[in-house]
Amino acid sequence: MSFDRRDFLTALVGGMVALTNAEAANLEGCGQGDGPPDPDSLARAGALRGIVVGAAVSSEQFIDTSYRAVLLKDCAALVPEWQMKWTATRKAPKTFDFAGMDLIARFASDHCLGLRGHPLIWHGAMPSWAEQEILAGGAQRHLEAHIRVTVGRYKSQITSWDVVNEAIRPEDGIDGGLRNTPWYRALGADYIANAFHLARRMDPNARLVYNDYNMEYEPQKAQSILALVLSLRDKGVPIDAVGLQSHLWATKRPLRTDALKNFCRTLVRNGVDVLITELDVRETDFNLTAAQRDKNSAAVVKTYLETVFAEVIPKELTLWGLSDRYSWLKKPKFNPENPLGYINRGLPYSEEMARQQMRQVLLDAIQCVPIQYKKKAT
Ligand code: G3I
Repeated sequence: MSFDRRDFLTALVGGMVALTNAEAANLEGCGQGDGPPDPDSLARAGALRGIVVGAAVSSEQFIDTSYRAVLLKDCAALVPEWQMKWTATRKAPKTFDFAGMDLIARFASDHCLGLRGHPLIWHGAMPSWAEQEILAGGAQRHLEAHIRVTVGRYKSQITSWDVVNEAIRPEDGIDGGLRNTPWYRALGADYIANAFHLARRMDPNARLVYNDYNMEYEPQKAQSILALVLSLRDKGVPIDAVGLQSHLWATKRPLRTDALKNFCRTLVRNGVDVLITELDVRETDFNLTAAQRDKNSAAVVKTYLETVFAEVIPKELTLWGLSDRYSWLKKPKFNPENPLGYINRGLPYSEEMARQQMRQVLLDAIQCVPIQYKKKAT
């Protein structure tokens, strides 16, 4: 489906088109320039269809003018890649340092972009003092303090929180497939419900998300996540959505599309939203040409989005960065696997900020979703 500017402006004039903050602000001069929305922006295509397109960022990326330009073109929301994690905000038991996160929040606010919170409770990126204190009887106290202070600080701006991240790992052999984390060892499975109930108390309006990875590759893990989320919701735990992190493999692992379809369908049938929260592609076929590598990355994203969109249109589609230049999958030079280092070609823009085939796949997938016309309130 293609949607040209004339239709858009007609719909806009008729007050029938929903705009994101970024769109509306762009028209009101809140964003970059006052011109009409960019006709092929991922953010705008998503905004017309109820999909908030976003990307993970670090504040030091904002001075990169070429990257900043694509962020502002294609994103209606941002998520901190690491600057909201405990290693960044919690240097000591009684301290909170939000300097980095505040830079991201300020940039989002200045450019009328939405903001996701990631993560509140995770086993990863934890300072050593935290694991020690969690296991020494301080778990509930630290869980509550962290959620109260962090959600309390950003609740006016962050509308979607990864409250608990990656709590399932069937290989750990615990009932329900739970991951053997310091939180679990200290509080048992209850830490998950505790976190969601407190997040809800701190922000009655935010979308509260359980976030995890590999549901599209590990059917057993997907089933454990379904069982966890649905059983907690049956007990009144306020989990609004499940985040599919969506860290895909270009060729090394086949997508389990049937398991993914069943996963999404079951959640939707039980009233649980499904979000795409960290989309990127691992591709390590260095013997292929760049064009072949880009084609492989685009192809797996196309299959993935077709599979998910057949069951649910995610309200949030967040990429784990927009450019290979800043991908967490970029390997530094002189690493043992590849002495010259390598660029992972798994995001919509290349290291040189050129559009990859994946970007067109994203735009096409979004534009296949019917536009949501909303009558202006009279
Ligand atoms: O801590 C330094 C900081 O002082 C410095 O200013 C900054 C300069 O860029 O680097 C910081 O270091 C690293 C940071 O990434 C930025 O590169 C951290 O040491 C490193 O641990 C951190 O890794 C992040 C990782 O999560 C662990 O937090 C990756 O960027 C990030 O992509 C990755 O993201 C995770 C999601 O949160 C959960 N799902 C899986 C995903 C990939 O692992």
